Amino acid sequence: MSTAPPPPANPLRDPRDRRLPRIAGPAGLVIFGVTGDLAKRKLLPAIYDLANRGLLPPSFALTGFARRDWSTADFAQIVHDAVREHARTEFSERTWAQLASGFRFVQGEFDDDAAFDELARTVAALDTERGTGGNHAFYLSVPPRSFPLVLNQLKRSGLSEPAPETWRRVVIEKPFGHNLESARELDAVVSQVFPEDSVFRIDHYLGKETVQNILAMRFANQLFEPVWNNHYVDHVQITMAEDIGIGSRAGYYDGIGAARDVIQNHLLQLLALTAMEEPFSFDADALRREKEKVLSAVRLGDDLATTTARGQYAAGWQGGEHVRGYLQEDGIAPGSTTETYAAMRLEVESRRWAGVPFYLRAGKRLGRRVTEIAVVFKRAPHLPFDLGHSGELGQNALVFRVQPDEGVTIRFGAKVPGTAMEVRDVTMDFGYGNAFTENSPEAYERLILDVLLGDPPLFPHQREVELSWRILDPVIEFWDSGGSPEPYRPGSWGPTSADEMLARDGRRWRLP
Ligand code: BG6
Repeated sequence: MSTAPPPPANPLRDPRDRRLPRIAGPAGLVIFGVTGDLAKRKLLPAIYDLANRGLLPPSFALTGFARRDWSTADFAQIVHDAVREHARTEFSERTWAQLASGFRFVQGEFDDDAAFDELARTVAALDTERGTGGNHAFYLSVPPRSFPLVLNQLKRSGLSEPAPETWRRVVIEKPFGHNLESARELDAVVSQVFPEDSVFRIDHYLGKETVQNILAMRFANQLFEPVWNNHYVDHVQITMAEDIGIGSRAGYYDGIGAARDVIQNHLLQLLALTAMEEPFSFDADALRREKEKVLSAVRLGDDLATTTARGQYAAGWQGGEHVRGYLQEDGIAPGSTTETYAAMRLEVESRRWAGVPFYLRAGKRLGRRVTEIAVVFKRAPHLPFDLGHSGELGQNALVFRVQPDEGVTIRFGAKVPGTAMEVRDVTMDFGYGNAFTENSPEAYERLILDVLLGDPPLFPHQREVELSWRILDPVIEFWDSGGSPEPYRPGSWGPTSADEMLARDGRRWRLP
């Protein structure tokens, strides 16, 4: 007798089949901080794009909560402008009319009980008028100091409490604290209001197609895994370079800096995905467990003076334009020692990775916008050529190009045509633009949809947040204990101390 499990009743509807488009069920989304930059540039356009792709149910409702004295029509106008300016997909009157019929706006301050009671009535009315089914997500796109207030209001007004067979979820944007201790304090507040499985922490890098592709490349193929270890890999470089300065974000950025802003979350997540073992499934628990193992095994160098580097952009010319230095940007404290560039050398203490340095760097006002993970391989143990011909031969590398030119590059040596045996570096490229007709969705489209579906694999667990702070805290304490970031030229690749950090190991940063 066969012991195989019976096939699903309708194979076309097997929920395990992740190839099927996943469409959210009846639900509403409430956004706090709807007038902020993130909402306008990313969240509202992403909601429209999801609707336009047919991934939101017709009953979907969007409620804005803000201090402004707006009517629902004013709110709709703001969403409309944001969508017109930033949406990825074409504007469709039909999509818009359907979506806009589910807009609501509630005016109030975060400490105003009456406003939250009004929000509770609005949400309840949506269930009966529009069919949101009692399912609601609350998106906190607000400064972290407001988290406790909003969360407590959600609890007091009963909004965080689901009725049987319905759900309530909360979405929080980083920063998840500014060190391990404050991350725990924040979590204590969150967990008093929502159970862990209803908390969705956004790290938008995990929503990027190319980031998810790291797992596909590694675990859907046989080609790479055999060489993915310290026998073959020399080192790994993870780069997140931006050409922009801090713009109008002084209030958020000053005192935070590059390490807390993007290394604690985005870059350490990229490291975890690159270094982790194969999870036994892509379920949240399995995936997170493997990432946690890697993060637990990450070690800093003994001497942080030589294994970390920090910089701050000075004034100068970039792209034919004279730009202000960080200290001259509006709203920056005089003499601020906040770093706009951070680099560090980490190791992963495991059998697979022992002895392989992972170099991380992130900075603003660098040469160009590029995020990539370069796995650089050891040199061939022997070259049967005249060194004169192959002296320029670099190391093999596999580069995940996260953005902007999404794809994967493999670099290796090939014979130059001709009678001589000359070998030179060449590259083999996979580009999303050439290989697929579909455009990559924005990270926030994927993540908002996953919140509505209650699908958590792409959201870091609190344990990952804490493990990441455990890695970073000593670096930040060391930097805070003295000295200041080294100034670097806008449009350059950062401070010389970062180059020296690699030079000490006999290596160089890649020129991405
Ligand atoms: C955010 C950081 O998380 O990521 C910003 O707070 C940074 O400082 C941004 O500019 C970059 O995101 P992306 O998707 O453009 O790489």
